Amino acid sequence: MQNKMELLDQINKEHLPQHLAIIMDGNGRWAKRKGMLRAFGHENGAKSVRVTVESCAKLGVKNLTLYAFSTENWNRPKVEVDTLMKLLVSSLKKEIKTLQSNNIRLNAIGNLTNLPSGVQKELQEVIEKTSENTRMTLTLALSYGSREELIQVVKKIAHKVKNNIISEEAIDESIINQHLYTHNLPDVDLVIRTSGEHRISNFLLWQIAYAEFYFTEVLWPDFSENHLYEAIISYQKRERRFGKTS
Ligand code: FPP
Repeated sequence: MQNKMELLDQINKEHLPQHLAIIMDGNGRWAKRKGMLRAFGHENGAKSVRVTVESCAKLGVKNLTLYAFSTENWNRPKVEVDTLMKLLVSSLKKEIKTLQSNNIRLNAIGNLTNLPSGVQKELQEVIEKTSENTRMTLTLALSYGSREELIQVVKKIAHKVKNNIISEEAIDESIINQHLYTHNLPDVDLVIRTSGEHRISNFLLWQIAYAEFYFTEVLWPDFSENHLYEAIISYQKRERRFGKTS
């Protein structure tokens, strides 16, 4: 791998993904390879979160969305779910300073009312405290599932049609966008998934319609600043045609 400066030199700051979404995968395997418990992998995964958030903000990425906990993750053993929730609270408490000093706004998407009350309280506090920050929006997808998101979009729109708030004919992409959890975010430009898995796993299905995908074998706790730059360089080399010819 080239060094940080060589990689940074290749990045065109005028052509960054406006919205980068990451499926952080491989914490468990990383720990297992070291003969450690899965919790150790998640703790080290939290370190990669910090590095990635700071690097994106410094580079000039305006929106970063991290898949931190899916609706399916509730099916993991209770001890692992509890560990992840505790880690979330401790990371929020610890990282509020990093968010403030980097002018980053925190946002959360998902079925947030399913989260333990302690997590909801901490999230709400950090979201409020950082709400005026403008450099980058960091969105945590928590208890998030894209199909569930789309179901609540359909229900909300159906309710409005039934009550004559909008007409059936008026339903278009923009109406759907307005009812998504991500209503205040642009479409995703680039999705990164670590750990060699090539799946979307119910993540932002509507929002990734024209996204580019970058898959890497690197396990999330090993994902560094340089890996992030490599992904962005690869993205910038691609020609995005949005269904048109070049
Ligand atoms: C995937 O690894 C990762 C997760 C399910 C959760 C992501 C959580 C973190 C990175 C920790 C902290 C998060 C924040 C926002 C501070 P896996 O357990 O599925 O790994 P495996 O596929 O190797 O088992």
